[in-house]
Order: sequence, then structure tokens, then C-alpha cells
Amino acid sequence: MARFDGRVAVVTGAGSGLGRATALRLASEGAAVACLDIVEDGAEKTAAEIAEAGGTARAHRVDVSDPASAKAGLEAAAMLGRPQLLVNCAGIGKFAHSHEMPFEDWQRIIGVNLTGTFLMCQATIPYMLDGGGAVVNIASNAGVMGQPYSAAYCASKAGVVNLTKALAAEYLTRKVRFNCIAPGGIDTPLQNSFAQFPEGVEWKTFRKFMSPLGNSTPEEIASTIAYVASDEARYIVGAVISVDGGLTI
Ligand SMILES: NC(=O)c1ccc[n+]([C@@H]2O[C@H](COP(=O)([O-])OP(=O)(O)OC[C@H]3O[C@@H](n4cnc5c(N)ncnc54)[C@H](O)[C@@H]3O)[C@@H](O)[C@H]2O)c1
Repeated sequence: MARFDGRVAVVTGAGSGLGRATALRLASEGAAVACLDIVEDGAEKTAAEIAEAGGTARAHRVDVSDPASAKAGLEAAAMLGRPQLLVNCAGIGKFAHSHEMPFEDWQRIIGVNLTGTFLMCQATIPYMLDGGGAVVNIASNAGVMGQPYSAAYCASKAGVVNLTKALAAEYLTRKVRFNCIAPGGIDTPLQNSFAQFPEGVEWKTFRKFMSPLGNSTPEEIASTIAYVASDEARYIVGAVISVDGGLTI
């Protein structure tokens, strides 16, 4: 019997990068997967890949930063059955000099990465209270260390870390486990958003954010997510698990 046989998983950001790899991984281990993404086409492609491999999946367009959209996404996901797993991969970011950053950029990054993670947890918890569940939020090494030119991203990811701990404490006795993974660099399209550096960047300040091991693959992080979401990780609660090539040693 596979680890997620008979379970329904909800994955945000499932149309690309880590979310796609996670959706494929959970499906390969038996989960029926609701693939949610603001880019509908991407979510549909991932769901089609799962179906082609013999799995079960549905795709829905969801903007995680919008409470009504998050709730509607969960209602659609629940057509597969009771959601028992939630992986919050949707995320955005870019570099900027903080004193020049447009307010809209700050709001959008916090809105998707932090508020979006909260809204998806909030929409999912009612399904998990009767029968349990596991939530894996995606933070970043930037959530546990101060990365330059990334104030909104760092603040959002540090928020994800402590949001996860707060929810873990609140629902510990209700059989809903919350944990987060803090990856370092992953080879995904998000890296392109961070490819444009603002003028006048001090390059030496970036050295400690680049692992000598290079980037991870999305599949490497997805395998950690699958473990943390599984019953094998029953005793892992409120943890922040770094998978970052040694960035935070
Ligand atoms: N790539 C890295 O180096 C890296 C490192 C550490 C953490 N992370 C985190 O991993 C997670 C996954 O990122 P990725 O690298 O796979 O990036 P990605 O750009 O490949 O995928 C992100 C996905 O989120 C979706 N998305 C964006 N805004 C959304 C919204 N409002 N509602 C729903 N979906 C939305 C995008 O359409 C995209 O499909 C993010 O939370 C990111 O911050 C990435």
C-alpha cells in the first residue's frame, strides 16, 4: 500500500516548479490531487500529467491571496473527497532596494506568500478537524536569515515560519499537523523573478546565499515534503526543516 492511498491532497502553485513536482510526487504515492494555481493552464497541465500516469487529479484556478478564491478552491478540491493534506507552494518574489520598493510590490508579496498561506490553511482546517490532516507550508532560507534586497520576501517567509508554529500549537491536539520546509535555491522558474538585480547591488553580500552545492531540484524538495506529509512523520510538529545545501549551517 502506498503512503497516500485513499487520501486527497491540495497543492497550491501546482502549475510550476516545486508545486508541480509535489503534486506529481504525492499522486505517484496514491493521493488524489487538487492542483491549484492562479495560472489555470499550468494547473491543468500538471493534472493532465498525473492522469496520464494513471493517477487522479483536478485542476482549479485559485488566487491564494483572495479569501473567496481560496475558499472556492477548497470546495472544488473537496469534490475529490475530504482534503487530508495541504501543501502551500504558491509564492512570488523579486529583488529591490527596500527604500525604492513600490508599496504595491510589498503588498503583493506579503499577500501571496504570507496571507495566501494563511487563507489556504484557514479554508482547509475545517475539513481536517474531523479525521485529521497534515499541512506543509513552504518557507525559504530567506525566512530564517536576512537576505539583502528581499525585505518583503524575507518578511513573508519569516511570517510563514511562525504562522506554521502558531497553527501547529493551536491544532496539536486536534490531529492536524503543521510543518514548514525552508528550501535554499531550487531550479524553478521563480529563479527568473530573482534574476534581475537592482542597480548598485553589492555582490559580496550575496555570497552566503549561494550554496557550493548549487541549487536543488524541485523533486529533491518534493520528496522531503512527501515524507513530512506522511504518517511516518507523525511526531514532527511545528518544525522548520531546512533543505538548503548548507546555507543556514
Ligand atoms: N525557487 C527557489 O529558489 C525557492 C527557494 C526557496 C523557497 N521557494 C519557495 O518555493 C515555492 C514554490 O516556488 P517555485 O520555485 O516552484 O516557483 P514557481 O514560480 O515555479 O511556482 C510558483 C507557482 O505559484 C503560482 N502562484 C503565484 N501567485 C499565485 C497566487 N496568487 N495564487 C495561486 N498561485 C500562485 C505561480 O503561478 C506558479 O505556478 C514558493 O513559495 C517559493 O517562495 C523557492
